[in-house]
Amino acid sequence: METNRFAIAVLAAGKGTRLKSKRAKVLHTIGGQPLLRHVVDAVLQVAAPEQVFVVTGHQAEQVEQALASTGVHFVRQAEQLGTGHAIQALREAVGGSSDLLVLSGDVPLIHPETIARLREFHRTQQAAMTILTARPENPFGYGRILRVAPDSADVAAIVEQKSLAPEQHHLGEINSGIYAFHTETLYRHIASLGANNVHGEYYLTDMAAILRAAGERVVALETGDATEVLGANTIAEMMQLDTAMRLATARRLMAEGVTIFRPDTCVIDSGVSIGADTVVEPFVQLLGNTCIGADCRIRSYSVIQNSTLADDILVRNSCVLDHAIVEQGAQLGPFAHLRPQSHIGREAHVGNFVETKKTRLGDKSKANHLAYLGDSDIGSGCNIGAGVITCNYDGVDKHPTKIGDGVFVGSNATLVAPVAIEENSYIAAASCITHPVPSGALALGRAPQVNKPGWVAKRKTARKRQ
Ligand code: UD1
Ligand code: CA
Repeated sequence: METNRFAIAVLAAGKGTRLKSKRAKVLHTIGGQPLLRHVVDAVLQVAAPEQVFVVTGHQAEQVEQALASTGVHFVRQAEQLGTGHAIQALREAVGGSSDLLVLSGDVPLIHPETIARLREFHRTQQAAMTILTARPENPFGYGRILRVAPDSADVAAIVEQKSLAPEQHHLGEINSGIYAFHTETLYRHIASLGANNVHGEYYLTDMAAILRAAGERVVALETGDATEVLGANTIAEMMQLDTAMRLATARRLMAEGVTIFRPDTCVIDSGVSIGADTVVEPFVQLLGNTCIGADCRIRSYSVIQNSTLADDILVRNSCVLDHAIVEQGAQLGPFAHLRPQSHIGREAHVGNFVETKKTRLGDKSKANHLAYLGDSDIGSGCNIGAGVITCNYDGVDKHPTKIGDGVFVGSNATLVAPVAIEENSYIAAASCITHPVPSGALALGRAPQVNKPGWVAKRKTARKRQ
């Protein structure tokens, strides 16, 4: 690494004991993404992946897996003996950098602009250590900043919550756990860290007093928005951050022309995009990388995950979409279930209690009531009647159903796959179709009806005789 380059460390080796969860804290999700992923995404807005070093330890494989696509480096901290110990583990990896920015994997709302501002402030101050600080409403639980004097940028020490002296409890300025260091100065003094505290851990925060005692400059940069540096140590704190993040997402979308009624009732992941003039009703969930076009209406209680919707689409109440693609002008629901690899064509209709899976429904085709369409390729302009079932599974394998353009499938027909129904043909209601249907034909696959005149009266007479 060139000596004039900065490196960025993200600390993510801790277990998160306070969560009381089997899963490592940094893998818990808010806004649809792991805490750590939010931090790394923000970092990658201001640095290249090769400058970023994530310290892993507890559940290291899973944590590294969650970042596999980002290209960042990983450094293992085999035993988690504290945030100061984590920085010691990084020495070899980042030793060649001029400056080292440090972030916590559990402080996920940080803005990239703030990281950049910290870096610039640190450079202009020519400090050995610059601490990003804030004054949240409730500072309880955080390390507190002890400034040399109230109006001075210089910091004397960081005091952890549990080590606060009675007269220090009023201190309202907190340590965000985000810092910039002059790398060489940091490692020259890091051996002075001890673990003589309530947790028996090596606290990175002690570096403030150590560096100052060595005559180095330690300064604070206060961010105006305390929300962005809130940490998540408990599930309740995490859910507060989740709420903050989702409201920010809703606000961003509304600024782009989307109407969201009662955004506090909606669950919208941060990766979701929506076009202008689309209306989202209360109690809607939009998850993963869902992308919705313009002029759509998403009615209440629908849950849409990792799906792509074009413009002008109506999703009526209580639809469930997962990995589905819906083309312009289509109408869904109420109570439609589009499972993975469903592809609904332009102006097509998928109605009440219709389930699709791995199925293409062509343009202007309609399946309005109570159908199961699986492993099917259905052309355009078809009518799929109420209760139609594609029998795609024989207990061992799945088989395809192919339906050409303009086919009318009568109500309650069962199509036993593999089967092909050619264009413009007609399937009589209640048919069981097991053979191909040629183009333009009427297929009747049901027992002919038999009427027995006078049968009811005859039965009554027979009973009386007994
Ligand atoms: C830390 C700060 C505190 C600050 C707060 C801000 C210390 C001693 N205290 O406290 O002053 O107000 O963050 O949120 O640093 N980690 C490792 N290896 C370890 C221990 C922790 O990588 O051995 C990681 C954790 O996974 C976590 C981060 O470091 O992502 C912070 O650790 P955590 O235990 O949450 O520190 P706090 O008690 O919140
Ligand atoms: Ca923390």
